[in-house]
Amino acid sequence: MKLTNDRAAELKEDFPIFRRKIHNQPLCYLDNAASTQKPQAVINAIKDFYEHSYANIHRGVYQLSQEATEQYEDAHDAVGKLIGAGENEIAFTRNATEAINLLSHTIKPLVEGSTILLTEMEHHANLVPWQQLAKKEGMKLSFIRMREDFTLDYGDAEQKLADDCAILSVSHISNALGTINDVKRLVGLAKKNGALAIVDAAQSAPHGAINVKEIGCDFMAFSGHKMLGPTGIGALYGRHELLEQMEPFQTGGDMISSVTYESAQWNDVPQKFEAGTPHIAGGIGLAKAAEYLQNIGPESISAWEKELLKHTLESISSALEKGDIRLFNPGHKHSAGILSLNLAGIHAHDLASLMDDMGICIRGGHHCAMPLMNKLGVAGTARASFYLYNTTDDADRFVAGLKKAKEMFN
Ligand code: ALA
Repeated sequence: MKLTNDRAAELKEDFPIFRRKIHNQPLCYLDNAASTQKPQAVINAIKDFYEHSYANIHRGVYQLSQEATEQYEDAHDAVGKLIGAGENEIAFTRNATEAINLLSHTIKPLVEGSTILLTEMEHHANLVPWQQLAKKEGMKLSFIRMREDFTLDYGDAEQKLADDCAILSVSHISNALGTINDVKRLVGLAKKNGALAIVDAAQSAPHGAINVKEIGCDFMAFSGHKMLGPTGIGALYGRHELLEQMEPFQTGGDMISSVTYESAQWNDVPQKFEAGTPHIAGGIGLAKAAEYLQNIGPESISAWEKELLKHTLESISSALEKGDIRLFNPGHKHSAGILSLNLAGIHAHDLASLMDDMGICIRGGHHCAMPLMNKLGVAGTARASFYLYNTTDDADRFVAGLKKAKEMFN
């Protein structure tokens, strides 16, 4: 179903947090790239599990444990369905960061001197694990160049992928700029050159239609809390045959099939990657979030967020002088619903704090993308990021807040 202002306002009612006020004003939540609010259905799924079906999984022969095991295992399928994964291709992790760390510790074969290719717009989560791997294995790091318009230089990508690249790991949507990267094209180039292809979908899986088989990637990582689910749960998608070949990341209970004093045999995928008692309630809550997103329709979510971005960009251009604002965004055609900006003479943190006084939550800072901020020549930006429950009223309050901040600082 197409999302409209009325529909988004209706959806807001599914989220109990929007009943509260911030500094005596209705909550205007525009920090969805950092984390999203939770619908009653997700809260209830977690509560119901603890109230009616809670037990540890994979251990008990008793009914309660079997019910919990079934719910937790089914949760993998519900989450996998959202991104078009096949059976046993989803392992739960704590978040996207842990999923990428898992990969950087387990991917094989690694060839000394070969290259790990990233982009200039990566979040630290898709940078630091690869820096560590490169140091440990004597590999090189290289970065696909970002153009002046905040999009990637695909010619540069083509050249760098042909240059002994072993691993390509790219963000689908930049959390700091909103840029939507053509991951299908990049993955296609990587595969042509025999590289492993990883997609950081932390900002894309929650906001639009994704199909890992169409993209053709080997692995994909995303977090539950950015897609209406609980914190502490995320997912790694991997092609089944690759997950089968990989060694585990962490060892201990639940990921083994048999152990002697001297050695151990690993369990099947995905349990091989889920050592110890996992976040069972988190997995069940995330499955409910995936179901909620499916019911709304991922295509309508991305279309609505684009409309909100377009509306905001248009309002900004009539409300503010060009010289008063610097936008870090490729334009609504190439961007998701994320808008980074700076107002002349106002620190991003001061702007975020003024907005807070008006009941508006935005993020100010480096957005865990310090190298990108250095490249842009700024310490940070102020960032508004939309989700399915935002309306043009939220966008208008944000633009009015910008105008007011400008007037106050003048
Ligand atoms: N990665 C999150 C953000 O972009 C925390 O804000």
